[in-house]
Amino acid sequence: MDSSLKCVFLISLVYCVVKVNSLTLTQSFENQFILFIDDQPLIEHNGVEPAIAVGSSDTNFTEDQGNFIINEDIFEKIELSTCDTDQSGMPTLFKARCYNAEYFPEIAVDVVVEEKDSTLFQKFAVINVTLSGRERLWFRLASNSTEKIYGAGEQFTYLNLKGREFPMWIREQGVGRNLSSPLTQIVESGSPGAGGDYHTTYYPAPIFLSTWNYVISGKQKRYSILNFTSPTRKEIYVHDNELILNVGTAANLMELVNGINLEVSRISPTLPDWIYNGAIIAVQGGTQNMLDKLQQCLDNGVKVSAIWIQDWAGKIVTSFGYRVFWNWRWNEELYPGLDSVISNLAEKGIQVAAYINPHLNVEGDLFLEADTLGYLLKNDQGETYRQDFGGFLAGTIDFSNPLAKQWYADLIQKNIIEFGFKGFMADFGEYTPIDAVFSEPSDPYEFHNLLPVLWASTVRLALEQSGTLNSVLPWARSGFTGAQYFHSMMWAGDQNVDWSKSDGLPSSIVAALSLGLSGFGLSHSDIGGYTTLNGILTRSEELLLRWAEYSVFTPLMRTHEGNKPELNHQVYSTNDTLKSFARLSAIYTSLTPYHQEVVSQVSTLGTPAMSPLFLHFPEDLETFEIQYEFMYGFDLLVSPVLEISKSNQQVYLPSSRWIHFWDDDQQVVEGPTSITINATLGKTPVFFRADSKWAPLFSDIRNRFNY
Ligand SMILES: *[C@@H]1O[C@H](CO)[C@@H](O)[C@H](O)[C@H]1NC(C)=O
Ligand SMILES: *[C@@H]1O[C@H](CO)[C@@H](O)[C@H](O)[C@H]1NC(C)=O
Ligand SMILES: *[C@@H]1O[C@H](CO)[C@@H](O)[C@H](O)[C@H]1NC(C)=O
Ligand SMILES: *[C@@H]1O[C@H](CO)[C@@H](O)[C@H](O)[C@H]1NC(C)=O
Ligand SMILES: *[C@@H]1O[C@H](CO)[C@@H](O)[C@H](O)[C@H]1NC(C)=O
Ligand SMILES: *[C@@H]1O[C@H](CO)[C@@H](O)[C@H](O)[C@H]1NC(C)=O
Ligand SMILES: *[C@@H]1O[C@H](CO)[C@@H](O)[C@H](O)[C@H]1NC(C)=O
Repeated sequence: MDSSLKCVFLISLVYCVVKVNSLTLTQSFENQFILFIDDQPLIEHNGVEPAIAVGSSDTNFTEDQGNFIINEDIFEKIELSTCDTDQSGMPTLFKARCYNAEYFPEIAVDVVVEEKDSTLFQKFAVINVTLSGRERLWFRLASNSTEKIYGAGEQFTYLNLKGREFPMWIREQGVGRNLSSPLTQIVESGSPGAGGDYHTTYYPAPIFLSTWNYVISGKQKRYSILNFTSPTRKEIYVHDNELILNVGTAANLMELVNGINLEVSRISPTLPDWIYNGAIIAVQGGTQNMLDKLQQCLDNGVKVSAIWIQDWAGKIVTSFGYRVFWNWRWNEELYPGLDSVISNLAEKGIQVAAYINPHLNVEGDLFLEADTLGYLLKNDQGETYRQDFGGFLAGTIDFSNPLAKQWYADLIQKNIIEFGFKGFMADFGEYTPIDAVFSEPSDPYEFHNLLPVLWASTVRLALEQSGTLNSVLPWARSGFTGAQYFHSMMWAGDQNVDWSKSDGLPSSIVAALSLGLSGFGLSHSDIGGYTTLNGILTRSEELLLRWAEYSVFTPLMRTHEGNKPELNHQVYSTNDTLKSFARLSAIYTSLTPYHQEVVSQVSTLGTPAMSPLFLHFPEDLETFEIQYEFMYGFDLLVSPVLEISKSNQQVYLPSSRWIHFWDDDQQVVEGPTSITINATLGKTPVFFRADSKWAPLFSDIRNRFNY
């Protein structure tokens, strides 16, 4: 047995712990302990900073168009200052009972940490915390000021989570997402809650990685908060009387992330090859317009993999802009002859993509049918929930009812897949109000966060039952723990058509990286962003092209016209834009073998397609705070231009030998270094590893497109 003695100095306390094995464990004086896993501090408790508190709160989740205002009044918080430990099962089993003498035995919390076998991690343990007497629990893991934390699902503003709190509640991400910015304040003043904040997201997930080389994955589905504000603790606050955390360790963060992703990838489908034929171009407004825009693109040399018509089922106009009519069947008035158009285009190698979400507009016949069948969520009066989605009302499929789920999967199969669409946006999933009543009597507080997962599994069911798992590509917005088992591609939702860090182009990069660290390795974003605000925010050509040029080095290139297409610069707005975009789409297509390798590595190695530099260069401490540069696969380092009117860009290169993708001289640059390079429009700063086996491909692309 390999024992060692380790002493810890904490404010005025000094105590020593004996570690048994390299495995787990601790102990010290009575009521002070640090539990280690694989030599790293996991749970830390003492009388001054107890590991656990419990209490009570009154909480309102007020929903308005997918925005939730969460008001919580915590009227009782009891620190459990005493923990009695039971080490008889060490080094594989640790137990503690924590309490506050004043409230004992009414309130007690049991903590059990048990090591289990795992093929994915070096060490794996389950922490089981159970509480009697209360339904609010604060559980604290060890931390210190140098630890960095990543993950928490899709986060848009901050990659390193240390120093902030992250509520786990699915919702609209907000418009502006920065309460100190004038734009968010304008949005908030018109509609409180709609502006969002740094943590509002479509896809939170209670999973995070620590630079202490472990990953913590929580099983909670109810509202919880990952609270990393304290320098000395990582706190998980849950509205529940049980908290289960899986802990995995590895030699470094790359191995951890691979472990998380490999668990998923065994059942993940691959992406269909048609996506590499070019960009997916968003158009709408009917068959003629679709064909005209497509022709315009083709005439100017744009490589088009698919035309995406989100309004295939019809359109409505609201104050927010042009919206889809949520009644999921071919709208023949708007799209006459669409069935034959789809097959004609398919012969030319161009696919057509559609749109769907889990809601039905009350004005549509499908709403009536679903309602009659009893397949929609009800309110607490027993009436079908008719929710405001921004100028119109819609119902939501009750996916907890297996019959409703199958009915919807059939609808997707029949009206979308069999009709000939080869892809679709699988939108929404965030709006479930807390008072919704569904058929499977379980917990409404869990159901809110679960809905996106049930929605994802319904989409997956449709693909499986139609045998199109590897040929039809849905891309989804909302998610929570478990969604990664059903979807293969996410997109970052509705960014503003601007350059802001909180909600513009830069935030789409943080979204992809944090999602990749949380177990979802494939995502992309709307080229040019989405949210347009009349008179305040419209898309420039420069933003559109900067977004497009970085999307070349992501798994999927797809445009969006935005909610007010006529106010935004579009790919097809001028021939010049089309020509610039044509060049970018051709570069994307030329990279096909590299894209294919990157995408396959997500499932074979577990490495996200887009990943932060620190996964690849863990010895380089500089990289841990870099959130706007990323590795695309193992060989390309991408540093998108994020500001207006830039002609050059400073790029940080970690320790390796690099070649600037657009440098005719192919000079080798030795990292670590910071280098300033030309970054004219159309030439995203990209470097490849000098020893890359793909160097000939990259050089060939440079020779063809260096204009
Ligand atoms: C929650 O809503 C109820 C009813 O409107 C109100 O009485 C209570 O004060 C609210 N609680 C909080 C924490 O906002
Ligand atoms: C957690 O512990 C409680 C109480 O001992 C037990 O009932 C429950 O099954 C455990 N859960 C897991 C996932 O081990
Ligand atoms: C923080 O904890 C880590 C892991 O135990 C340790 O390596 C590091 O030295 C600590 N840093 C400080 C400033 O205490
Ligand atoms: C939020 O807005 C303030 C005020 O405009 C600005 O200083 C800050 O940098 C913004 N934060 C982010 C993350 O964009
Ligand atoms: C998060 O942690 C900070 C610092 O420990 C604390 O002040 C705050 O109340 C916590 N937030 C919640 C929601 O518990
Ligand atoms: C745009 O390009 C197309 C195809 O090359 C051409 O037919 C058309 O005249 C051009 N339009 C303008 C305004 O130059
Ligand atoms: C940047 O571009 C300018 C003008 O085209 C050129 O003179 C200069 O050599 C370039 N610099 C680098 C480092 O390529």
